Amino acid sequence: MLDLCGVELAGPVLNGSGTFDAIAARRAFGDALLERFPFDAFVSKTITLAPREGNPPPRLWETPAGLINSIGLPNKGLEGFLRSDLPQLAQLPVPLIVSVMGFSHKELASLVARVSERDEVGLIELNVSCPNVESGLIMGADPAETARAVEAVRPLTTKPLIVKLTPNATEPAAVARCAQEAGADAISLINTLKGMALDPRGSGPWLGGGTGGLSGPAVRAVALAQVHSVARSVELPVIGMGGIATAAQAADFLAAGARCIAIGTESFRDPGAARRIAADLGEHFHRLDMHRTRSG
Ligand SMILES: Cc1cc2nc3c(=O)[nH]c(=O)nc-3n(C[C@H](O)[C@H](O)[C@H](O)COP(=O)(O)O)c2cc1C
Repeated sequence: MLDLCGVELAGPVLNGSGTFDAIAARRAFGDALLERFPFDAFVSKTITLAPREGNPPPRLWETPAGLINSIGLPNKGLEGFLRSDLPQLAQLPVPLIVSVMGFSHKELASLVARVSERDEVGLIELNVSCPNVESGLIMGADPAETARAVEAVRPLTTKPLIVKLTPNATEPAAVARCAQEAGADAISLINTLKGMALDPRGSGPWLGGGTGGLSGPAVRAVALAQVHSVARSVELPVIGMGGIATAAQAADFLAAGARCIAIGTESFRDPGAARRIAADLGEHFHRLDMHRTRSG
């Protein structure tokens, strides 16, 4: 068993928010999904206060070793989530982490307060990769701005608060330290890196949203460096992600200081990736132990 802010997990493998639709998977695979659930905790797709349709298409562009998405957070909004998604996600056999994003402190406060009322929710993740409409700053790109966002919601919940950092910051470790001082219980990183693709026909940006977020193997080295730096800068548990596709790569993130790891883009390529990585991780550590015993 592994402890994440007082919540017990059977292992260290989570999903990256927005990269595994557990409700659709349950529809497709029925109870078999619950019997062999791939993650040790499930992170919901990010929800916002008002419903969102998301960005116009096209929403995806494949790069040589990654994916740029401009999905734009389509979701049912807080009330729709609480009414129709949460009861279904509550049936999953693992702790539930609900990811929220607010475009102002007031919005963030409403989200955290309402989600916090629900016993089904184990932890809350603050996705701070969005502008604060009041200041015009990207919440997670600036340490003081992040601190203000966390301070605004900290008194509203006793549930553990995870702050999900954006890699599009000058110094993510400084942002993490401010999040810790403001009362965060854990840090997760990385979210996607800002990227762009041009329409091959020469008519401007390919993605309907103009720019998008790069993920997958292309970002792994950046993610590993940021996880390593953040884990040394805070005392909080760190959830590391960014391009993990194998158990050896997951083990690198754990060695860099992450307590848990999350699988994102790889689940689109191989929906069984998390199970494979969890199983191989056990084997990986077993071999490492054998090696240490032999050479020690
Ligand atoms: C299609 C797609 C949708 C995503 N949606 C969300 C989201 O709703 N909230 C969030 O915090 N991160 C979201 N992410 C970011 C992932 O959770 C993860 O932080 C990022 O992709 C890096 O991990 P990876 O390289 O393993 O995918 C999304 C990523 C992708 C590719």
